[in-house]
Amino acid sequence: MTTQNIYILAIESSCDDTAASVMLNGKILSNVVAGQSIHESYGGVVPELASRAHQQNIVPVVQQALKRANVDKKQLSAIAFTRGPGLMGSLLVGTSFAKSMAYGLNIPLIDVNHMQAHILAHFIDEDGFQKPPFPFLGMTISGGHTQIVKVNSHFDMEVIGETIDDAVGEAFDKSGKILGLGYPAGPEIDKRAKLGNPKAFKFTKPKVEGLNFSFSGLKTAILYFIQKETHANPNFIEEYLNDICASIQFTIIGILIDKLKLASKQTGINHIAIGGGVSANTGIRKALKDGEVKFGWTTYVPKFEFTTDNAAMIAIVGYLKFLEGDFAEQSVTASSRLKI
Ligand code: KG4
Ligand code: ZN
Repeated sequence: MTTQNIYILAIESSCDDTAASVMLNGKILSNVVAGQSIHESYGGVVPELASRAHQQNIVPVVQQALKRANVDKKQLSAIAFTRGPGLMGSLLVGTSFAKSMAYGLNIPLIDVNHMQAHILAHFIDEDGFQKPPFPFLGMTISGGHTQIVKVNSHFDMEVIGETIDDAVGEAFDKSGKILGLGYPAGPEIDKRAKLGNPKAFKFTKPKVEGLNFSFSGLKTAILYFIQKETHANPNFIEEYLNDICASIQFTIIGILIDKLKLASKQTGINHIAIGGGVSANTGIRKALKDGEVKFGWTTYVPKFEFTTDNAAMIAIVGYLKFLEGDFAEQSVTASSRLKI
């Protein structure tokens, strides 16, 4: 029996990272990401600047991905691209590029849902990383998303909880902004949290029914707290920065773990797989490991480069859809609010 070699080129451009990846039969050959530092001085992503940067980056990023994989475009079996959700102007760049390239090479086009991809990143063949068994709970936590998904099979997923306002990464970034930290503030808060006392200051957790999340109230509570304290002591932030960071992080992790506990109880599922930029947080990783002992969970964290926005996760979805013969038409369009 001859096995077919399936080469997928994947393109991701939903937010502020232009990314391309080449995959052979479920294994990543290259994974290139061009970030956009232009947004740093604005303290958040500026959509118009993002789409312009994608236009500049997409050709060199795709070329790099093919070169690093040592694959010629004539070898490609299909092109996968992020159709949504995301910023419309950003999505359009990747979508039109993928469509023209697939048309030019006369190979199939595969549309990918970015949120499914964050979860299916766990199915990339990677030494030392286990694939979660079905059904499992996927939690995607990043600057743009906060979702708990019941994953019954590769393409049978159900969102059982999500944020009703800010994403968890925004809670880190906006708190950091109040404290005068750079953007994005998540990694800095994480670093400082290790040096501080998580119980130094108490912030009340939001009261949201069921499995949904809310983070905007926490941001306001932190703002008022800092205003009050700096009024009494102008050096408050400077003197207590590590304790403040530890306390904020402790509160956010508590919110995430509470919801995971509830989701696990409601569904009877103990396999929990996380993804998204916030899954880099050392506190959440530790809390998940503790959950293995305390609650009998088995937890899965993908390789870091597959958790933040990347095209490798788009490639694995492309590969799985290729195996099912699930292709897109040339008439496919980007969809900024695409649902799982
Ligand atoms: O997945 P990602 O790179 O992009 C999207 O937002 O889709 O996630 C970026 C987010 C930012 O909010 C950043 O502050 C947060 O992930 N982040 C962290 C850490 N590393 C990145 N948050 C907490 N602790 C970290 N170590
Ligand atoms: Zn994402």
